[in-house]
Amino acid sequence: MPTTAPTKNTTLQIGPHTVRTPVVLAPMAGITNAPFRTLCRHFAEGAGFAGDEGFAGGEAKGGDGGFKALFVSEMITTRALVERNEKTMQLIHFDATEKPRSIQLYGVDPATVGKAVRMIAEEGLADHIDLNFGCPVPKVTRKGGGSALPYKRHLLRAILREAVSGAGDLPVTMKMRKGIDDDHITYLDAGRIAVEEGVTAIALHGRTAAQHYGGTADWEAIARLKEHVPEIPVLGNGDIWSAEDALRMVRETGCDGVVVGRGCLGRPWLFADLVAAFEGRTEDIARPSLREVADVMLRHAGLLGEWIGDESKGVVDFRKHVAWYLKGFAVGSEMRRRLAITSSLAELRAGLDELDLDQPWPAGADGPRGRTSGNNRVVLPDGWLKDPYDCAGVGEDAELDTSGG
Ligand SMILES: Cc1cc2nc3c(=O)[nH]c(=O)nc-3n(C[C@H](O)[C@H](O)[C@H](O)COP(=O)(O)O)c2cc1C
Repeated sequence: MPTTAPTKNTTLQIGPHTVRTPVVLAPMAGITNAPFRTLCRHFAEGAGFAGDEGFAGGEAKGGDGGFKALFVSEMITTRALVERNEKTMQLIHFDATEKPRSIQLYGVDPATVGKAVRMIAEEGLADHIDLNFGCPVPKVTRKGGGSALPYKRHLLRAILREAVSGAGDLPVTMKMRKGIDDDHITYLDAGRIAVEEGVTAIALHGRTAAQHYGGTADWEAIARLKEHVPEIPVLGNGDIWSAEDALRMVRETGCDGVVVGRGCLGRPWLFADLVAAFEGRTEDIARPSLREVADVMLRHAGLLGEWIGDESKGVVDFRKHVAWYLKGFAVGSEMRRRLAITSSLAELRAGLDELDLDQPWPAGADGPRGRTSGNNRVVLPDGWLKDPYDCAGVGEDAELDTSGG
């Protein structure tokens, strides 16, 4: 099906921040750190596959002075932030040129969330705060956090109230799932509460916690939420694998913007396609050769090393990205395995140099990537579902240093 440029105004307003194309990089724990955001931003700004020169990571290259898209940090635990945990302080590091700086927070205790948000506002640590109510991992939901939390309406309200009041002029957004499972759907109530508490925008991942990443995202729910809370921007999330999908989501749901996660794993240049599509250049689709992909891989690994302050640790952290970057290319399993255990840039470069780098972009690289499994039971605190309004039993000890989405 040919892509169709959207007809409505596609600028996204997040409080004082004007985002020129309504595209948001989804927070992903262990992935959307400063180096990955730099790469995505680089492509969003139209800088292309120009080797090291092209990866300077400097000022916006779009030349029109606006922010092309929004790139959200991985989730930061509020307790760890207020305790100034060393790793957490590194995770909230932004590249000097990142603007607006978006931090995603995870918390279950209104007072701790309030403290974390005030700390960010007072110390100028970010320009936008997103709150995570979508995490389905058992370590989090077992404590009533993440995607379990919106079921407790009063608790959700209390957290949002603390966050919005503590944030001062900083916009506060929230990201959630449809609910815990098909029998405990919460997104419409949560959306209304968010509007009443002054939340600036809401992102909805069209799955329940029980679905994890299985099945297909329910875009109908995104449309329902937009109808239910017309006062604020609704951002649709789930199963955008191409720019064409992003335009289709906006067209079919009426949402104000898209949040893209797994589709850009090993494919940060998807942001070039997304921006081009929303600017009406729907035929502008990046199809890098393996040589160009290899350049991005080296750059990504190198940026991770610079960020961590240790080249080897950067390359080790990069290992998880190798299979995503190579998806669909003709690279044997032994070579894939070798590339995924390298410990230095020289080793990674040498391995990549052995590949047939003239391979064009393979059709098999399009479509789903990353986690796709689901239908797990949601682990909840005892008696959690008995009363959607009672929040006894949720306290500071639910504030874990756990990541996920
Ligand atoms: C590896 C990984 C880590 C994630 N971490 C977070 C997170 O820290 N916070 C969050 O709100 N969602 C997180 N998510 C969920 C994504 O933000 C997104 O909602 C989900 O992947 C669905 O969007 P997609 O279909 O575009 O991938 C994570 C997803 C993945 C695959």
